[in-house]
Amino acid sequence: MAIGIRLAVEGDLPAMAHVVVDAWRATFAGVLPEDFLQGMTHDRQVRRHRRYLSRAGIVYYVAEDENGVVVGFASGGPSRHPGFSHDAEVYALYLLPAHQRRKLGSMLFARVAGDLGDAGHKGLLALALENNPNRVFYERLRGRAVPTEPLILGGTAVGQVAYVWDNIPALLKGLRGLAQ
Ligand SMILES: CC(C)(COP(=O)(O)OP(=O)(O)OC[C@H]1O[C@@H](n2cnc3c(N)ncnc32)[C@H](O)[C@@H]1OP(=O)(O)O)[C@@H](O)C(=O)NCCC(=O)NCCS
Repeated sequence: MAIGIRLAVEGDLPAMAHVVVDAWRATFAGVLPEDFLQGMTHDRQVRRHRRYLSRAGIVYYVAEDENGVVVGFASGGPSRHPGFSHDAEVYALYLLPAHQRRKLGSMLFARVAGDLGDAGHKGLLALALENNPNRVFYERLRGRAVPTEPLILGGTAVGQVAYVWDNIPALLKGLRGLAQ
């Protein structure tokens, strides 16, 4: 079986929860408080993503490896940030550490952005923690960085950056070939 991207289904929730927790622990070890990272639970992630997965207008894609195992996912929908004129948002984009830098993130992002564009959204935003080294990914996609409100994690305010794209079709042109 080839590595592939497909729409997520309810049965993917445990695998998606595993991806989120592993990706956060690997990305933010030594950066975010260890007790916060160790306190992340699969159950809470399953509940969170089950709520989102069932909502109209929200899209979820998973990436599978050669054995059909879910190794990453992305989701998006209407923007949750009224302070921005951009009407769509990538809510989540995560890959297991061993599957990063193989273009799966680009493919997932392209699928979600493509569906949001097809649904009539014009602009897109994605939030990243300021201290996430992976936000270079959004810079490479020419997202414009805009400071935004901090996120409260385990009682501590952590800086965030919003990456914005004014025009989804123009963004997709830059990603051409990765959305199929
Ligand atoms: C961020 C993430 C989704 C990117 O997906 P990916 O499949 O690893 O990225 P791609 O292979 O599609 O990368 C495309 C390009 O983006 C850039 N890029 C991606 N991750 C990068 C990193 N950590 N540092 C520097 N550049 C990076 C590179 O230019 C890369 O091209 P190259 O590998 O040919 O140099 C993935 O690394 C991930 O899940 N990280 C952990 C979770 C996370 O941080 N999510 C939030 C994103 S801000």
